[in-house]
This record gives sequence, structure tokens and C-alpha cells, in this order.
Amino acid sequence: MAVRPVLVYSDERLKQVSATVTEFNDGLRRLIADMEETLRSFPGCVGLAAPQLNHFQRIVIVDVSARPDIPHHGCLILINPEVVEKAGEAVGREGCLSVPDFTGNVARAERIHMRAQDSRGHVQNFDCEGFEARAIQHELDHLDGFLFLDRLVSRRDLFRRKHYK
Ligand code: NI
Repeated sequence: MAVRPVLVYSDERLKQVSATVTEFNDGLRRLIADMEETLRSFPGCVGLAAPQLNHFQRIVIVDVSARPDIPHHGCLILINPEVVEKAGEAVGREGCLSVPDFTGNVARAERIHMRAQDSRGHVQNFDCEGFEARAIQHELDHLDGFLFLDRLVSRRDLFRRKHYK
């Protein structure tokens, strides 16, 4: 396993659309292990998408379990994820390892039903809500070349920060 470097805005590669994963092999599982190790190397970070590591396949990790008192599914490894249904809308603050100097307010669905494959290719379904649903929608955006900067509620909803946390 290895911590890999994270692409940072305004790197044009972050705008790429990632490809569907078709081979569920040891190479995929090594990449997932590197994604997990990279995510863990940033305390407080709740998600990572493969394209942030310069690897353009539809793979994300989301783990909001360290946040107190919110519903969650533990560490989710989502391959070829799709949001099947959305409900509600809420505005909340988001950050991103690829946008280390800013946070911003973004509107997302409050509840989502999603379908994804696991590292062996098995299809799984999840109902997610609140902060976990927000984190998943943020990570899925990376797979289509979008950052939270593309989704700000308004230009005034961008905030500078000194340190990633
Ligand atoms: Ni991000």
C-alpha cells in the first residue's frame, strides 16, 4: 500500500470523466488499498475519488463514521456508483483535498438511494441521508469532472481557510 499524491485545482485532469470499472482484479484491489491509505493520511477527511489520484476509473471511498451522531454505513467502497433516487435538498459546507485552500456551500439532495459494486463486482444498494449522502454526492461529482467549486450556491458561498481539517 502507498499514499499517492492528490491532484489539486486547477489541474485540468480533474475535469476528466472517469471510465466504468470492468475488471475486478488484484490491480483494482491494490488501487483501493492505496486510496484508503491516502484518505487515512488526512485526518478528518471523509472521502476520496480515484481521479483525485490521477486514476480515471469510477471508484470512490466515503467514510463519515468518525463524525458524531450521524447515520452512516461505515467505510463505503463504491465502484461504478449511481444515484438511483434523490429526495429533499439541503445546503451545507463542503471541503475537498483537491481544493485545499477553500470551503464552500453547496446544495445537495438530503436523501439518496444508490447502487454500486463492491471490489468483487457484487451489486449493492444503499439508502443514505444527511452528511453521508452529501459526501457521496460530492465524491460522485469527481467521477464526472466536477468539483464543489462548480456547484456553489453563490459566489459569496466560498470561504478561504488556512489549514485542511
Ligand atoms: Ni473532493
